Amino acid sequence: MVLLSGRLVVASHNQGKVREIAALLAPLGVEAISAGALGLPEPEETEATFIGNAALKARAAAEGSGLPALADDSGLEVHALDSAPGVLSARWAGPSRDFGLAMQRVWRELEAVGAQDRSARFVCALALATPEGAVRVFEGDVHGHIVWPPRGDKGFGYDPVFQPEGFDRTFGEMSHDEKLPLTHRARAFEKLLAALR
Ligand code: IMP
Repeated sequence: MVLLSGRLVVASHNQGKVREIAALLAPLGVEAISAGALGLPEPEETEATFIGNAALKARAAAEGSGLPALADDSGLEVHALDSAPGVLSARWAGPSRDFGLAMQRVWRELEAVGAQDRSARFVCALALATPEGAVRVFEGDVHGHIVWPPRGDKGFGYDPVFQPEGFDRTFGEMSHDEKLPLTHRARAFEKLLAALR
C-alpha cells in the first residue's frame, strides 16, 4: 500500500471538503491536488454506503490520474429520520446544491415525525486507492444534535444546524481551525494514518 508522500489526488469537487482534507495532509508534507483541478470527471455515487461510494470515487480518481487518490464520502445521519439523509446528504440539496433547502427539509421531516430526539451524527468514509487498484477505507464519526434555526455562516453543507456534543455552538459558528480536529473527517484520517504507520 502507498505511503502518504509526494502528490496525492483528492477525489472531490466539493471545495469545503478539499480544503479540510488538504489541511489534514499538509503537516505530512503531502501535496493535495483536487480532482476538479485535474479535470477528472465526477463519478456517479451508485453505492448504498459511505464506504462503497468512497472506494468508488478513490478508485476512479487513481485510475484517471495515475496517482494515489484519497476520496471522502460523508454525510449527516439523523437518528429520528432512520439515519436520513445519509448517503443522500448532497442530493437533498438538489441540483443547485442549496443547503438552505436541505437543512429546511431535515427540520420539516423532524417536525413531521414529531421527534423530540434531535440526535445526529456526521459520518465520513475515507478511501485511499493506488493506480494499481488497491483500496483501503476508514470510517470516522462525530455525534451531536440538530438545532433550528441554523446558526453561523462558516463551514459548508449542514454545518449551521449541527451542534457537536459538548459544545454550545454549531459547526457553522466555528472557525475552520476549531472545527477541523472535531470532525468525522479528522477521525477517519487518524485511523488511516494509524494503519499506514
Ligand atoms: P458527498 O460525500 O459528496 O456525497 O457529499 C456529502 C454531503 O454531506 C456534502 O455535500 C455535505 O453537504 C454533507 N457533509 C459532509 N461533511 C460535512 C461537514 O463536515 N459539514 C457539513 N456538511 C457535511
